[in-house]
Amino acid sequence: MRPYIVANWKMHGLMADINEVMAIDNAAAKFDHVDVGIGLPATLIHTASEQVKNSEIGAQDCHQAEQGAHTGCLSAAMLSEAGAAFSIIGHSERRADHAETSRLIAQKALTLQNASMGAILCIGEDLATRQSGAALDFVAGQLVESLALADDTSLSLERLTIAYEPIWAIGTGRVPALTDIAAMHSKLRDQLVASFGPAGDAIRILYGGSVKASNAKDILALENVNGALVGGASLKAESFAPIIAAA
Ligand code: 13P
Repeated sequence: MRPYIVANWKMHGLMADINEVMAIDNAAAKFDHVDVGIGLPATLIHTASEQVKNSEIGAQDCHQAEQGAHTGCLSAAMLSEAGAAFSIIGHSERRADHAETSRLIAQKALTLQNASMGAILCIGEDLATRQSGAALDFVAGQLVESLALADDTSLSLERLTIAYEPIWAIGTGRVPALTDIAAMHSKLRDQLVASFGPAGDAIRILYGGSVKASNAKDILALENVNGALVGGASLKAESFAPIIAAA
């Protein structure tokens, strides 16, 4: 399975930062065996996608409907036309800030599939759930609910990626124990195979939450960790390129 290293720029980046996107794209050129994605603010997607050669540009969210009266929202077709090859969906910041439910996110996953775009579906537990010992079942449940509408043909699953991001590890510098990451990814792999059969074995599962150059190698070496979704350390090529190299 090819490793997949994805930047999530969140609400960062102005046109002046296209230079940094290009520096990341240049770094990606050195690692042929790694797929690199850059999730940008929608305002940068078109400009960036016209220039990159070694990476794919993506969005960070997408509306579940094909079109309609949804002020301020962007459809999969709009993002695709602008140059996005994929979209992140269900990030915990959207679940929290915009009250997005797994049921809604399942519709977004379907919409992206229908638009032939990649979907990076984010799931993950909060600290209280982790401390209560219920994280494995909670996150597996989120996975099932968030994919309830996904087509179970191998063709439409090809562009689906899962990102396990424990909420308490995002932007905090805290990372779960390697054994806990491995246990979660193994649980998610089992769930994907239970849901989709052998096709579930080919779906990449990324880890996200305080990934940086110093911990990337150990995390990426774990079984069933097929890449990383990176926030803070992805904003500069200087800190992101070593994570691509670690893969
Ligand atoms: P950090 O890498 O900044 O912890 O963010 C992770 C994340 O939310 C990526 O989607």
